[in-house]
Amino acid sequence: MAIQLLVKDVFSIGSRDWDRRLFDELIPLPDGTSYNSYLIKGSERTALIDTVDPVKKNELINNVKQLNIQKLDYVISNHAEQDHSGAIPDILELYPDCKVVTNSKCKEFLIDHLLIPENRFIKKEDGESISLGNKTLEFYLTPWVHWPETMVTYLKEDKILFSCDFFGSHFATSDLFVTDKYKVISDAKRYYAEIMMPFRTQIKKNIEKITKLDFNFIAPSHGPVYDNPEIIIDAYKDWISDRTDNTVIIPYISMHGSTEYMANYLLDSLIAKGINVKPFNLSKTDLGELAMSLVDSTTLLLGTSTVLVGPHPAALYATVLVNALKPKLKYISIFGSYGWGGKTVEMIQANLNRLNAEILAPVLSKGHPRKEDLDLLDKLANQVYEKHKELNLIK
Ligand code: FEO
Repeated sequence: MAIQLLVKDVFSIGSRDWDRRLFDELIPLPDGTSYNSYLIKGSERTALIDTVDPVKKNELINNVKQLNIQKLDYVISNHAEQDHSGAIPDILELYPDCKVVTNSKCKEFLIDHLLIPENRFIKKEDGESISLGNKTLEFYLTPWVHWPETMVTYLKEDKILFSCDFFGSHFATSDLFVTDKYKVISDAKRYYAEIMMPFRTQIKKNIEKITKLDFNFIAPSHGPVYDNPEIIIDAYKDWISDRTDNTVIIPYISMHGSTEYMANYLLDSLIAKGINVKPFNLSKTDLGELAMSLVDSTTLLLGTSTVLVGPHPAALYATVLVNALKPKLKYISIFGSYGWGGKTVEMIQANLNRLNAEILAPVLSKGHPRKEDLDLLDKLANQVYEKHKELNLIK
């Protein structure tokens, strides 16, 4: 990645991963990602904030060499996950006197994951700082965005908040700063949904904490830098709020068409009642899109065929994912068809134990839905309508 100047003596020197299409072997990345690393030259000392994924370490090292950095005093580690910390051992090898500056929990994780020797660390706790001469770095613990050790670094004189994953987006772009606000907020929402959403309560506390700082820039470790930080702070405040909207999401999987018929029947019925509906055919959908829709939706209706004694594995996979992401959903129901029996409802419900949503009566059809099954779907759609109305989501 080309070296880009953020402000005087502060450089973005990380790497873009244009081709990466999956993160953690789980999360789809339609637009790739970046591993941002920032170099700060103070009048007396130099520091690097976070590094890059190990697959891109050569780009980082080339950039450090290109800037002719003879002496690197500190590498700041805001987060131990390897996409930011993975090249720290290489940096330490290149600069034998360089120290890793981080909090005690992150130090423990870096030792565990990267086997960095104990004597290479300087520990800093909440509110502590280091001086680079004419520039000061302050450290603030922001636990659970999205690991327990996460922190942010604040460059006081230049009013820059280095937030690591917090406020990031998986978006590889040549722009250093946000140029297309709507694109970046959409990517940041996908990122929030997949990574941050389970920690809504902790994020709220951390936003309250960091917004006491006076910053003009948020420089995350994925995606472009915000030179108008309000846009992402306001978006986060909305996503973590208790607000849900007038949306029903219908993830479904259908082997021979009966469950799809029921999904479409519900879709038409809900649309006719003035409800926004988002169907997701689980054999085709991008699970990132499903995750994004969970940020604001009020109701989830999960449709599944029956395989042997339970739900289709794709429906169970989606259930496990929804449960892990812990969205604000208020109502859930299950529908689908079966041939001769099974424990579909019990198996799905057992995997939704982290949610606070009310479970509405499921509708299971033996074979293709008959009139009595469709009547039950009408009843379910009416119930959803009444629930949304009670929440003032429908005027
Ligand atoms: Fe971008 Fe939690 O790592």
